[in-house]
Amino acid sequence: MDLHVLDALARGGFEQLVAISDRRSGLRGFLAIHDTTAGPAFGGIRRWSYRAENEALRDVLRLGRAMTHKCVLLGLEAGGAKLVALDHADVDWRAAYRHIGEVVEGMAGRYYTGPDVGTGSEELAWIAETTQYVTRPDDRGPGQLAESTAEGVFAAIAASLRHLDGEEDWSRRTVVVQGLGAVGSLLAERLCGVGATVVAADVDAQRASEVAARLDIRLVDASAELDVPCDVFAPCALGGILHDLSVPRLACRVVAGAANNVLAKPIHGDALHARGVLYAPDFVVNSGALLRGAAFHLEGRREPVERIGERIGLTLEELLTSAEAEGRPPARFAFDEAEARLARRRSAP
Ligand code: NAI
Repeated sequence: MDLHVLDALARGGFEQLVAISDRRSGLRGFLAIHDTTAGPAFGGIRRWSYRAENEALRDVLRLGRAMTHKCVLLGLEAGGAKLVALDHADVDWRAAYRHIGEVVEGMAGRYYTGPDVGTGSEELAWIAETTQYVTRPDDRGPGQLAESTAEGVFAAIAASLRHLDGEEDWSRRTVVVQGLGAVGSLLAERLCGVGATVVAADVDAQRASEVAARLDIRLVDASAELDVPCDVFAPCALGGILHDLSVPRLACRVVAGAANNVLAKPIHGDALHARGVLYAPDFVVNSGALLRGAAFHLEGRREPVERIGERIGLTLEELLTSAEAEGRPPARFAFDEAEARLARRRSAP
C-alpha cells in the first residue's frame, strides 16, 4: 500500500521527518519528531531488518507518536520522537551510530536519543562520541533504565489487580512473564519478592534456564505461555503478539507488560475487552525508562525507581477508572485521552 508521507505527517500531527542516508557508513533511516510543544522530544533508536522502506517509515511514525502519548499522559514537559535505522549486512555500525550522533547534535537539544530494540550500551557509547543529547550507558547517564521499566510494569500489574479486586493479594496470584530479558527477569524477581507465583518463557533456552534456576520459577516452552491459566500475562519480549490467533488463547484476567505495541491492531484491545480481559495500555505501563531519562535530562536528577512505580501506578489507576466509567476499552480510552490532552497543550496560549 502506498504511503503519502506529507499526508501521514499531517494526519498524525508530526512536526518533522528527517530521512537519513550516509554514504560513508551505509546507514539509511528516518527520524520522526512528533511534538516539542512542551519541551524536547525523547525517543530511542530502533535498529531492525525492515522488509521495505515503507515499513520503516510506518514504524517510525507509530513509535514517535506513541512517545508523545506517554509524555502527555504522565504530565512530562516533553514530547515524542523516534529514530529507525534499517538493518543490513553492509552497514558499518560504529560509523553509522557516530553519524546518528551528528544528526542528533544538529537538532541542538530539540531531540534526545536513547536505547531501543537493536541499540544497547555499545551503540549508545558510539553515539555519545558525537552528541551530548543521548542517554549515556555509563555513570554519566541516568542509569537503572531497565529497573525503572520493570518497576513501572510491577506497579501497573498491582494497579490493575487493585482495580479488579480491590487488593493485590500477591500470594494468591500467578503471573506469566513472556521474555526473560533485561526487563522480564527483573520483573520476575520483583514478583517473586512479594510472593507471587511466576511462570515464564523465553525463546533463548539458555537464558531462560539461567534465570529460572536463580529465581526458582517454572518455565514453559516458548509460545505455550499464552495458554497458561493465570491472573496476569506480562509480555516483555516483542510487540504485535496479540492478534486474531493469540487473543482467544489467553487464559488471564489482566495483560500488562513492557513490550511496545503489544496489540497487533487496536481491534485486538477491543477483543480483549469483550472477553473481560483488562488490557493495561502498554504506553503507560512501560514508561519507566522514559520517566527516569526525562528527569535526568530535563532536571538533572535521578528519579528514584520507587517514585517511578508510584507515578505509573497512579496514572494507570486514573485511566482505568475513567475508561470503566465510560464503558470503553482502556487502550482506546488512553489513546483518545492522550490526543485530547495534546490538543489542549498545543492550543494553550
Ligand atoms: P531484551 O532484549 O533484554 O529481552 C527480550 C527477551 O525476550 C530476550 O531474552 C528474548 O530472547 C526474548 N524473546 C524474544 N522473542 C520471544 C518470544 N517470542 N517469546 C519469548 N521470549 C522472547 O529486551 P528488554 O530490554 O527486556 O525489553 C523487553 C521489551 O520491553 C521490548 O519489547 C522493549 O522494546 C520493551 N521496552 C523496554 C524498555 C527498557 O527499559 N528496556 C523500555 C520500554 C519498553
